[in-house]
Amino acid sequence: MYEKLASGTIRKDFPILSRQIYGKPLIYFDNAATTQKPRQVVEAICKYYYEDNANVHRGVHYLSQQATAAFEGVRTQIAAFINARKSCELIFTKGTTESINLVASSLGQMMHEGDEIVISAIEHHANIVPWQMLCEVKKTRLRIIPVLDNGELDMEAYNGLLNKHTRIVAITHVSNTLGTINPVKDMIAAAHEKGIPVLVDGAQGLSHMRVDVQDMDCDFYCFSGHKIYGPMGIGGLYGKEELLNRMPPYQGGGEMIDQVTFEKTTYNELPYKFEAGTPNVADVMGFGAAISYIDHLGLEHIGKWETELLQYATTALKRTGDINIIGEAKSKAGVISFLIKGIHPYDAGTILDHLGIAIRTGTHCTQPIMDRFGIPGTMRASFSFYNTKAEIDELIRGIEQVKKMFR
Ligand code: ALA
Repeated sequence: MYEKLASGTIRKDFPILSRQIYGKPLIYFDNAATTQKPRQVVEAICKYYYEDNANVHRGVHYLSQQATAAFEGVRTQIAAFINARKSCELIFTKGTTESINLVASSLGQMMHEGDEIVISAIEHHANIVPWQMLCEVKKTRLRIIPVLDNGELDMEAYNGLLNKHTRIVAITHVSNTLGTINPVKDMIAAAHEKGIPVLVDGAQGLSHMRVDVQDMDCDFYCFSGHKIYGPMGIGGLYGKEELLNRMPPYQGGGEMIDQVTFEKTTYNELPYKFEAGTPNVADVMGFGAAISYIDHLGLEHIGKWETELLQYATTALKRTGDINIIGEAKSKAGVISFLIKGIHPYDAGTILDHLGIAIRTGTHCTQPIMDRFGIPGTMRASFSFYNTKAEIDELIRGIEQVKKMFR
């Protein structure tokens, strides 16, 4: 299977990769923003709408029962993929952002003035703002783990932040901007020693490495379908059963209830207590197909090839000169943020775009990182298993062209 990745033959599963952009073959290096979808995922969504469409958990008729079984089958599949103890510990959400908002909003109802929430300096806005909104309402306090110059978190400072007021630690598994892979297992163990639960933002984690929530021992793991070759608008929240059972519902509506009267409503059991309204069944089908696809390729092969691409790109970028790489942690996923000296990232990104090369430029929803490093933004290339070394060579040629144009 590794050969299939290294040789690029896997690309035939992704029709979009044979597109031309401005007359040039598309080179897609914006995988941290969203990954492309293999045919298998798109076909699963089409099949659901063409052949199987019905609401779930709501009807005795054949189609509804079939849709319900397929929907719950994907829940079981994804719960097994992350090694959750039970499938009821997996709640379907719109994606990582909603998963974090769900926890902040629900667990937040159990917090009080003076309680502390520990996050890190390299979080995506999705793992900053929901906690800040909670602080405004509950008068809780945000504490920030600082980041070192190489993009790693300051672990000594982290341990110093954990105290009797800390109610939750919320940290990213992999930084979408710096590529840093945080030592989440150690961080969770340190928090648990003090009885503090930990939420892991896994938006950039799940697609690059095998995630075992029991081994990691996280209390919550949040992820998005579209970052792992599935559809947009679907994602998951893994939570430990005991914690989820204690938490109040997030949204009210159909499905999340047990009995409703005007005097009092009682709530459904897990996972339905947190799934108000008709769920996004079609995209759950696509998500299941994406997980099957990844599982078939093997995350160990994916991780190996992406690491090779990252090393190849890092060496090649350094060799070109005038490049400042932001984030050189020892442990990194396939994300590389950089600046070309003296050239604004937007200018460089626009020229590369006209060469058919899609990278992301800007602050990547991590403005505090830019402030910390005193930069306006970065250019970011983020890799997937379908990228090739030849594409990286094209990126380097493009960067040389950018440099020439600005001299
Ligand atoms: N969070 C996404 C990114 O890093 C959108 O690009």
